[in-house]
Amino acid sequence: MKSNVTRFLALGAISALALTACGGGRDADTGGGNGGSPAADGECFPADATIGVALPQKTSENWVLAEQLFNDGLTEAGFDPLVQFANGGATEQQNQIDSMIEQGASVIVVGAVDGSQLGSQVQAAKDSGASVIAYDRNLLNTEAVDAYIAFDNFKVGELQGQALLEGLAERKGEGPYNIELIAGSSDDANSTPFFEGAMSVLQPKIDDGTLTVVSGQTTFQQVATQGWKPENAQRRMDTILSGSYGGGTELDGVLSPNDTLARAALTSVQQAGGETPVITGQDSEVESVKSIMEGEQYSTIYKDTRELVAQTIASVQDLQMCEDIPVNNTTDYDNGVKVVPAFLLEPKIVTEANAAEVYAGDATLEPLTQG
Ligand code: BGC
Repeated sequence: MKSNVTRFLALGAISALALTACGGGRDADTGGGNGGSPAADGECFPADATIGVALPQKTSENWVLAEQLFNDGLTEAGFDPLVQFANGGATEQQNQIDSMIEQGASVIVVGAVDGSQLGSQVQAAKDSGASVIAYDRNLLNTEAVDAYIAFDNFKVGELQGQALLEGLAERKGEGPYNIELIAGSSDDANSTPFFEGAMSVLQPKIDDGTLTVVSGQTTFQQVATQGWKPENAQRRMDTILSGSYGGGTELDGVLSPNDTLARAALTSVQQAGGETPVITGQDSEVESVKSIMEGEQYSTIYKDTRELVAQTIASVQDLQMCEDIPVNNTTDYDNGVKVVPAFLLEPKIVTEANAAEVYAGDATLEPLTQG
């Protein structure tokens, strides 16, 4: 019954999306920037149209990988890719999206620096007839987003929370355990579901005394890391270690939302002369996978960027052919003004024990597991 309802809603959402895609008509007449070819009958925009991809800062390896994959994949599909990073931040990204609209992009894929700061740009994109896809990070407080394509963010957090508990039992003997919490950047819409997913597992263990957050810092605001910057996480950890640890109080575990921040926290602990805590991560970055295989970082998450980009490009092709694009979640990603129909991929937890199996077939990561 439930699945029928979901399916019905999903179809509703999909057809709305298809209508939107064809409604604006960046077709034969719009010309400029669309490679010059007209849209054929039954097409919503030309097969060689410009596709804008606005990426955030290079705060983790997955974004760098995405750039290459979008350029190659969109070109191979016959489109004209316009892929840009906004290393300067939210204002730079606003300007880039404006310029993609001016250049006649038929679809704009956005990995937002700050998902709440792009409302007027994505509205202008829709008004120009383009479709807007939120990539990896949702776009907030706007009607002007057609779909969200990402790995399941809440699930990522749950897997991290579970891995932390497993790692503590495996490496630190019987509890209770002393832990600290780190969250991502507050301007990234993913940071809250990551943290809430993890806390759905950890909070009951804090409540029953299995886990103690010695610093007392447990709210998202207290533990967030501005800009996902490793130096910010490291500085906060330095302060916590000197203020709350030492004198017999050992840090047993750290919830870290990604690999970059996990390595920063480990550096802080090493500099303070403490024992390696059980620490989580995300993204399967090369340095962290090496660290996991050396028995240092405990876990990471595998979100295969190739899969995410392929799903997004397939959706762009669907839009081009005026077809429904697939979504599998029409309930969870309320952006403040609407529930954005989402296609969520499954993240995978990785520890030393299953790394070889999970990374099998990944040319970069598989070799790192064959010590
Ligand atoms: C991504 C993570 C990444 C983080 C920092 C998030 O939005 O989902 O994979 O670690 O940004 O780049």
